[in-house]
Amino acid sequence: MPADFFEPISDHKTPPSYFFFDGDSWRAAEGGKTTPVISPIDGQTIGNVQMVTSSDIDAVMARAVQSQRAWEATPLNKRASIIHLAADWIRHYEDYLVALLMREIGKTADEAKGEIVRTADLIDYYAKEAQSIRGETVDSDNFPGYEKGKTALIDRVAHGVVLAIAPFNYPVNLSASKLAPALLMGNSVVLKPSTQGGISALHLVRIFEKAGVPKGVISAVTGTGDVIGDALMKHPAVSMVAFTGSSDTGRAIGGLSGMKPLLFECGGNNPAVIMPDADMNLAAREIVKGGFAYAGQRCTGIKYVLATPAVREQLLPAVLEEMKKSVNAGDPRSPETKMVGPVISARAADRIEKVIQDAVKQGATLVAGGGRTDALVEPTVLTGVTPSMEVIAKETFGPVVSFVEIQSMDDAMSIINASSYGLQASVFTRDEGAGLVFGKQLNVGTIQINGSPQRGPDHFPFMGIKGSGVGVQGVRYSLEAMSRLRSVVLNKPS
Ligand code: G3H
Repeated sequence: MPADFFEPISDHKTPPSYFFFDGDSWRAAEGGKTTPVISPIDGQTIGNVQMVTSSDIDAVMARAVQSQRAWEATPLNKRASIIHLAADWIRHYEDYLVALLMREIGKTADEAKGEIVRTADLIDYYAKEAQSIRGETVDSDNFPGYEKGKTALIDRVAHGVVLAIAPFNYPVNLSASKLAPALLMGNSVVLKPSTQGGISALHLVRIFEKAGVPKGVISAVTGTGDVIGDALMKHPAVSMVAFTGSSDTGRAIGGLSGMKPLLFECGGNNPAVIMPDADMNLAAREIVKGGFAYAGQRCTGIKYVLATPAVREQLLPAVLEEMKKSVNAGDPRSPETKMVGPVISARAADRIEKVIQDAVKQGATLVAGGGRTDALVEPTVLTGVTPSMEVIAKETFGPVVSFVEIQSMDDAMSIINASSYGLQASVFTRDEGAGLVFGKQLNVGTIQINGSPQRGPDHFPFMGIKGSGVGVQGVRYSLEAMSRLRSVVLNKPS
């Protein structure tokens, strides 16, 4: 561990216990309970994180409320400099953070490096973009029946305290994508990372602290959702909730949060529709990348392919060929491993294995993979999958691509629009116009023509509809979501 910089965040025992950050200091939870973080690579405990209590949460929230106004009153250019410095520290500790991510969540070196580099770039972009956010004025005489005399001065102000809940699959990036815009818009933030990934996220919080975010403005609490979920979500100090995670958890959080602004990135079950004129090699490359990168543990992964029997006949061999070239399941620390390391836990692998077996029992055919060893699930391809099978009806979040047979593009549209998810869909065709016309009929947040689903580039709008999310992320959109409009009306006395 880089000696001084990260020194206060753990007790340095073997394995270390990581403290939570109460906004002022790194400390153990009241009562001293912790929960282990197990590496998906070898099942070893790599550390413990604190199980905070509701009284820890009360203290954190009180500090967050108390410090927020002074932070919002701090000139934006100063807040932006602090945020830029956090990006610099991330780059400085890149190698250390990459190694930590690999061990904690099982990413390959390339994937972990990609997350860290992208996070530093994202934070810088946020800090630049925040400085171009402006208000406006609106005059009364634009509306019928009104004379001049009233002017609305409209600007953006902070919500107050933002509760940011981050998932295991991008613990640094998807924490930073909430922390940076919330802080830049003058909010204080309480981060609740996933337990798995929590150690990496705590390092990120330390980086923001060291960059100069004032006391109380940033804090991080750890523990399991079933124990602290209610205390966090129902806390009266929380003004807004930003969450990334499963659709089921999103629904539960939405239910607990009440009338608060929400920014939710939830599950995705993204289809790829292959039109008969598509470039099958391109489609195969994108399906393999989209289906198997980070072992399929991306909300933007391709989960199923909609193809007529004639299209499938051409496409399937190309997909299997591409898998031979681009995918190699194994230990993510090995340079031989490509795309598929272990999924986040042996328990997650149990679930994925069962979903695959259930599909086969219901008539699907296994054309690749299907097996697993501990947390390593083989890259799996199924054909003959139907929309009601759990492997695509629910987000599988594993290295599994399912082929669903259609007879026409209308079938594809009906299947996609009937899904409870609505994040992204890919359409492959050599005729961009036809792709556009078809794509615009799909009830999803984003349609990708000739590319696999993805969140980035990070300044693009990113949003799910239906069970896939609430609100819009992406640099400017997140800055807007992390703030609210305020209107002051000047009335000219008549
Ligand atoms: O898992 C959800 C992530 O936001 C997906 O991001 O498309 O960059 O992998 P990504």
